[in-house]
Amino acid sequence: MPRILVFGAGGVGCIYAYILHKAGASVTAVCRTNYNVAKTKGITVRSKIFGRQHFQPTVVKTVQEALQHGPFDYLLVCSKAFPGTAELIKDAVTDRHTAIVLAQNGIGLEEDYVKLYPENTIISGVVYLPVTQVDQGVVEHGPLERFEIGTFPADAGEQAKSQCRGLSELFKAGGGSAPLFDDIQPLRWIKVAVNAAWNPTTALTMCDDANYLRSSPQAEPLIRGIMKEVSTVAAAAGYPDAITHEVIERDLARPKSRLETGGKEPSMLTDIREGRSLEVEAIVGNTLRLGQRYGVKTPYLEMLYALAMARSFALRPDERWKPIARHDSDDARP
Ligand SMILES: NC(=O)c1ccc[n+]([C@@H]2O[C@H](COP(=O)([O-])OP(=O)(O)OC[C@H]3O[C@@H](n4cnc5c(N)ncnc54)[C@H](OP(=O)(O)O)[C@@H]3O)[C@@H](O)[C@H]2O)c1
Repeated sequence: MPRILVFGAGGVGCIYAYILHKAGASVTAVCRTNYNVAKTKGITVRSKIFGRQHFQPTVVKTVQEALQHGPFDYLLVCSKAFPGTAELIKDAVTDRHTAIVLAQNGIGLEEDYVKLYPENTIISGVVYLPVTQVDQGVVEHGPLERFEIGTFPADAGEQAKSQCRGLSELFKAGGGSAPLFDDIQPLRWIKVAVNAAWNPTTALTMCDDANYLRSSPQAEPLIRGIMKEVSTVAAAAGYPDAITHEVIERDLARPKSRLETGGKEPSMLTDIREGRSLEVEAIVGNTLRLGQRYGVKTPYLEMLYALAMARSFALRPDERWKPIARHDSDDARP
């Protein structure tokens, strides 16, 4: 029976824990705020695909505490992608054994893990899973479940490929879907183009996607412009065919179809409403830094990055700006 550690038992973590538990794996979940509820009452899933389900994984408070339930065959990173996350799982990674699975939005996330865990398989995943933790230990999941996975790097050796196949089979056995890709990066680029376009624009304007599109004639061209900019970076990084004209049109068709019925909130807008930190670095920062690496100009991303980082900064009372003592000379402007 494979042993699995889920780090970050929020929306995505709870659904993936459920699928793997159903597949017969031994699942341990590192929980933080929802620890007490998950430990005493288990996890409840209300899903358009899986129905109403309840299950009890092994629940621990810390990665160190999880160790007694290892060694782990797979460690799924399902927390939000923030700088420094790779360090947090260190104690539960067994060299040359634990496959680290990234179930997070963003681009270029793998590099930190390769540096810290050079002997381990890295499986990079693109998550299509509309899910929210509506109460502690209770998650609501919509009608889509698809976890696109591939090794990082794409040409990893046979052991890594075999671990990746193993994860795909486990998902299938648990009623889920984790299709394998020889190279996952083009799919990551598509997702990050969509996220970079919609997340900061809606979060900064506090408009859902349909309201954003309705707001001015410039709204839609800006979304196209951001996606094209990400596409230029992807091309410079070696993926010229990832973000096609069809991808952009398909992405825009969804919010356009909601113009009359009401829009959807991208996750960064929800994070702002809830006062949570934003995944700006993983989605916008890493994309523009890759642009810099390959000599691509990214004026839209640079502006979004500065504004979204400032918005994120303002949400965190611990780091918020404090008034600086004023001097009379400050007013000595012409
Ligand atoms: N939800 C979706 O619909 C969706 C869809 C596609 C992709 N994604 C991506 O999937 C990833 C996960 O998203 P999510 O919506 O599942 O996020 P989420 O609901 O906020 O869950 C993240 C979980 O990680 C926990 N966590 C964070 N740091 C931790 C730490 N140091 N120790 C223990 N637990 C920790 C959080 O605990 P606390 O509750 O204590 O903060 C929370 O339970 C993100 O990259 C997101 O962009 C999400």
